[in-house]
Amino acid sequence: MMARRIGCAGPVADGIDSCSGETSGGSAGTTGGSVTATGTGHAMSAIGVSAVLDPAHGHHATVSLSSVSRPQVDGSWQLAVLADGYVTTQLLYVAAKLRLADALADAPASGPEVAAAVHADADVVTRILRGLCLDDVFVELADGRFALGRLGEYLRDGVAGSQRGPILARGEVYFPVAHALLDAATTGACAFEQTYGQPFFAHLNSVPAHHEAFEASMAGRAAHEADAVVAAYDMRGLSHLVDVGAGPGLIARAALRAVPTLSVTLVDRPAMMDRARREMNDAGLTRRCAFVAADFFDAVPAGADAYLLSRILHDWNDEEAARILRVCRAAMPPGARLLIVDAVLPERARDMPGAIRMDLLMLLLFNARERTAAEFDRLLATAGFELRRVIPTGSPTGLAVIEAVGKP
Ligand SMILES: C[S@@+](CC[C@H](N)C(=O)[O-])C[C@H]1O[C@@H](n2cnc3c(N)ncnc32)[C@H](O)[C@@H]1O
Repeated sequence: MMARRIGCAGPVADGIDSCSGETSGGSAGTTGGSVTATGTGHAMSAIGVSAVLDPAHGHHATVSLSSVSRPQVDGSWQLAVLADGYVTTQLLYVAAKLRLADALADAPASGPEVAAAVHADADVVTRILRGLCLDDVFVELADGRFALGRLGEYLRDGVAGSQRGPILARGEVYFPVAHALLDAATTGACAFEQTYGQPFFAHLNSVPAHHEAFEASMAGRAAHEADAVVAAYDMRGLSHLVDVGAGPGLIARAALRAVPTLSVTLVDRPAMMDRARREMNDAGLTRRCAFVAADFFDAVPAGADAYLLSRILHDWNDEEAARILRVCRAAMPPGARLLIVDAVLPERARDMPGAIRMDLLMLLLFNARERTAAEFDRLLATAGFELRRVIPTGSPTGLAVIEAVGKP
């Protein structure tokens, strides 16, 4: 069998794409003693890679890489990488679920060692670790072992900024919902309801595992947002806050810590109240808390000097959001403040990508939305409120505190 050494050129991404085994879709020709590959429509760039081409197999080449160059990413390849986002979601999910980062927390380890520690398949775990090396979650050392990368620590529970809860919810509960986006786009239906057969919170009531995943996701997200909210909005003038749809009470907890004279009434669905009680108990704050299991479409406790709706209105369409606001309005004495904590959509998407991503999540899960400041203004007016201030929190999600008071 005749074999020729060639110089390899072609679409270059990660330094190896066009030379990874087959010159698929391209053609090879000889130029002054070297061979060039052409024809895929990508940017071409010689990368100093040698390959052994077996003419008997046409374009099928066995390749040995003598050096790896920096990638030259063109738009087409960038789009191809984006389209594989579904794989990334699941790589992160499996890594979080199996606690691969915990297995690497103390020292680097080989793929099979990590797999043995988490009782999983050595080959698949090794490939997952390598896959996540591409995005700085793990790092591949010169000896082939793996270590935590820049992002790897956040896959672990109990670290500041942990994303394990949000990743589990995305991989387990939200992932199938994204598949119904086309339905939503063509019919206006709610992707979550198309997928699971009932609205989000009704589904959580009937599937405890999904309720748990949602709780953990909220805890992960709100933990790092709560301090930003309390730092942005001075609550020192308040004595009694009603936290409407309080969830596990992370914002309430941050507020209670910031203002020692404040008391908070947490209102949520019965299933959520148990967790809120536990969290406040663990934080030693129950003395200044009251817990009310109630439907915020019916009634909320009256007479407080402030009402907080944190990450509530974005779960509902305008008509439903206005109903919640009217219930709050009816409970508020004159002079009481309404504090809405939500992402405020930017004029241009790229000005606040975090808010845009959250808006898409709301679209998928609730057929609901984040809102611009002007949309908040209009919504508040329909429920008898006057918008006073929009105070940004500095969170990369575009979170702001929107302060309103009841119109006389
Ligand atoms: C996105 S979470 C926000 C939680 C919390 N305020 C925060 O900022 O982290 C929405 C909350 O609304 C609660 N919720 C949903 N429907 C409700 C209802 N009809 N009545 C009371 N609470 C409700 C959920 O249980 C959940 O805790």
